[in-house]
Amino acid sequence: MVEKIKEKLKSVKYPGFSKDIITFNCVKKIDYEDGILSLVVEIFSANEDFVKELDTNIKATLKDLNLKELKLEIKHPAPPKEKSNTQSGKNIAPQIQNFVMISSGKGGVGKSTTTLNLAINLAKMGKKVGLLDLDIYGPNIPRMMGQDNAKVELAGNKIKPILSHGIEMMSMGVLVAKEQGLIWRGAMIMKAVEQLLTDVLWSELDVLLFDMPPGTGDAQISLAQNVPVSAGICVSTPQLVSIDDSKRTLDMFEKLHIPIAGIIENMSGFLCPDNGKIYEIFGKGGTQALAKEYNCEVLAQIPLEIDVREGGDSGKPISFYQSESLSAKRYDEAAHKLWDFLEKVQKEGLADNAAVQPVPNAAPACSQ
Ligand SMILES: Nc1ncnc2c1ncn2[C@@H]1O[C@H](COP(=O)(O)OP(=O)(O)OP(=O)(O)O)[C@@H](O)[C@H]1O
Ligand SMILES: [Mg+2]
Repeated sequence: MVEKIKEKLKSVKYPGFSKDIITFNCVKKIDYEDGILSLVVEIFSANEDFVKELDTNIKATLKDLNLKELKLEIKHPAPPKEKSNTQSGKNIAPQIQNFVMISSGKGGVGKSTTTLNLAINLAKMGKKVGLLDLDIYGPNIPRMMGQDNAKVELAGNKIKPILSHGIEMMSMGVLVAKEQGLIWRGAMIMKAVEQLLTDVLWSELDVLLFDMPPGTGDAQISLAQNVPVSAGICVSTPQLVSIDDSKRTLDMFEKLHIPIAGIIENMSGFLCPDNGKIYEIFGKGGTQALAKEYNCEVLAQIPLEIDVREGGDSGKPISFYQSESLSAKRYDEAAHKLWDFLEKVQKEGLADNAAVQPVPNAAPACSQ
């Protein structure tokens, strides 16, 4: 019977995600005796609507079992205190003050470029900055920093972050041989994210930025479960199709209770090197309406600039080597806005994880 119940529960989706509560490892207890079922389900969100939705869906799914009694307990973190929109409450890297997730619905829109240039500009502001490349499938940050042949150094049983361009960096691209094809399943991603946070010897950082894989999957969830993400940044290009994907990212931030710092509109026009004019080949400003809808701001509009791409390919980031360029200036403005936002989050206790119960260790494994 227990197996049958488990099988049925596989059709109950985790609210807001495409995977089910069994895959997410949310079902903690199934006790069945004489028609009486005691079920304990544990979720990481404090959102009351999620709890209600889950309650309704589980009851509906188990209805045709004609149970004498269903004792259903849905455990969840306590709702955050007033104004707080905290995430999980857990922090496995407590020496780090702020965590920023840079995400996008689409691949290739400029997440890695944005993350790196923001990191460099925050470091220029005198902040102690780390960059963790969580794009486990396609880690590009080492190349973009000219560190693709960097050797891993150990200190005891911890990994030293690579020091480059004034920031601390770690990436699967440094840890795994290039020719080794990476085939990751959900649970492995969860574990990798955890280890990159705890097994790397990060200093007492002001801020750690995360370059995410595209989409809203395992790495994003795992991160939100392990550290209180203080800010989410969505990278989007101006076309309407990209805007649709960006909504998914912004929705994900909301679902994971990550305060939204804003949107970076990348490839916002083409900066012609011949005449310095900007040609709006993808349209422009499409992200403004999106920002309004999600009550956040457009942190910067970065044009397509040849030097940005060349800087990425050659491991010479534009913000470090050409700080007078238009894109570098805009990244710098965005970094200042991001820092102001992080200060606000700290001051207003928006990321005050003391308010929320710790999350169970069994992190859900999912991918969209
Ligand atoms: N503003 C820009 N001007 C010129 N080239 C850019 C700009 N932004 C990004 N690029 C280039 O576009 C390519 C994709 O950028 P990037 O790798 O940062 O995107 P991504 O969203 O991280 O991609 P992925 O989803 O594959 O991780 C890179 O070659 C990068 O140099
Ligand atoms: Mg990338």
